[in-house]
Amino acid sequence: MLIALCSAKGAPGVTTSALALGLSWPRPVVVAELDPAGGDVLAGYGRAETAGGGLAELALAARRGGPAGHLDEHLLRLDTSGRARLLPGLGDPAVARHIDWERLAAALASVEDGAVDVLADCGRLRAEHFPAAVTQRAAAVVVVTGSTLRAARAAALAVAELRREGTGPAQGTAAVTALVVAPGEPYGEKEIGQALGVPIVGALPRDAKAAAVLSDGAPAGRLFGQSALPRAARSTAARLADHAAAQQARLTPPTTPAVSATTVGGGRGR
Ligand SMILES: Nc1ncnc2c1ncn2[C@@H]1O[C@H](COP(=O)(O)OP(=O)(O)OP(=O)(O)O)[C@@H](O)[C@H]1O
Ligand SMILES: [Mg+2]
Repeated sequence: MLIALCSAKGAPGVTTSALALGLSWPRPVVVAELDPAGGDVLAGYGRAETAGGGLAELALAARRGGPAGHLDEHLLRLDTSGRARLLPGLGDPAVARHIDWERLAAALASVEDGAVDVLADCGRLRAEHFPAAVTQRAAAVVVVTGSTLRAARAAALAVAELRREGTGPAQGTAAVTALVVAPGEPYGEKEIGQALGVPIVGALPRDAKAAAVLSDGAPAGRLFGQSALPRAARSTAARLADHAAAQQARLTPPTTPAVSATTVGGGRGR
C-alpha cells in the first residue's frame, strides 16, 4: 500500500511527520524519501550517516534494468527491529530530473506483494520534478499543513491541485486527506478540515524536542516514546493505515497486471 505525503509550501513538517508515522506504523513499512529537493533523513535522524544505496542508486539501477533494481538493497533500518526501513532520498537534487517516477511508483505500490506499506515523502506539491506519478498511484495522499491561516490557505490550494487530473490520486478526491501539524495555532482540526474540504486523518502536536530528534538527530532520551509527538503519531498512523486500506479496497482494478514485488528494474513493474 503506497501512501504519499506532500505539502503546499513552507516546511510544515512532512519529513518529520513521515518519520514519526513510520516509526509507529502498524505494519512493516518503508519511509521513502522522494522529495525532488533532496533527502534530509540521513543528515538528520541518521546523524550524518553516509550510506550507499538510496533513491539515486535505485533509480539508476532501474534505468539499467536487471537485478540491481531490487528495492531491498537500497533500504536502511529505521528501528532496531527492521519493521520500519528507509529509502534514503537524493543527495543531489539535480538527479531528480532523471528519475522515472512512473516506474518507481509502480514498484513502491506493491512492495513484497503488498506485505510492506510505503510512506512516501514527496515534498512540496508544486516543486519542479514533483513525483506526480506517486501521488496518482497512491492509495491515499496526505496534505501536511500547519494551522495558521496562511498555511491553511496554501493547503487548500494544494487540495484543489490534487483534484485536477494528472496530479491527484487516480481513484479521486476521496483518497485525499490532511494531517495538521501543531493544531490550534490558531485553527483546530475541524476548521482546517472545513477549509480544505477533505477529512483530517490526524494531528501531530507542536513538540519541538521530539521533532528535533526526528528532523535533526537530537539525542532521543529514555522518555522519547512517551512524549506528545510520538504518542499522537501512534494514533494517527493507525487511522491513516485504515483510511488508506479502505481506499485501496476501492481501487482493486481487476485488469491491472501484477507488479513485480520488490524490483523496479528488469522491464517489469509497469
Ligand atoms: N510536530 C512538530 N513540532 C515541532 N516542530 C516540528 C514538528 N514537526 C516538524 N517540526 C520542525 O519543523 C522543521 C521542518 O520540519 P521538516 O523538515 O519535517 O519539514 P518539511 O515539510 O519536510 O520541509 P521541506 O519542505 O523543507 O522538506 C524542523 O525543524 C522540525 O523539527
Ligand atoms: Mg522534507
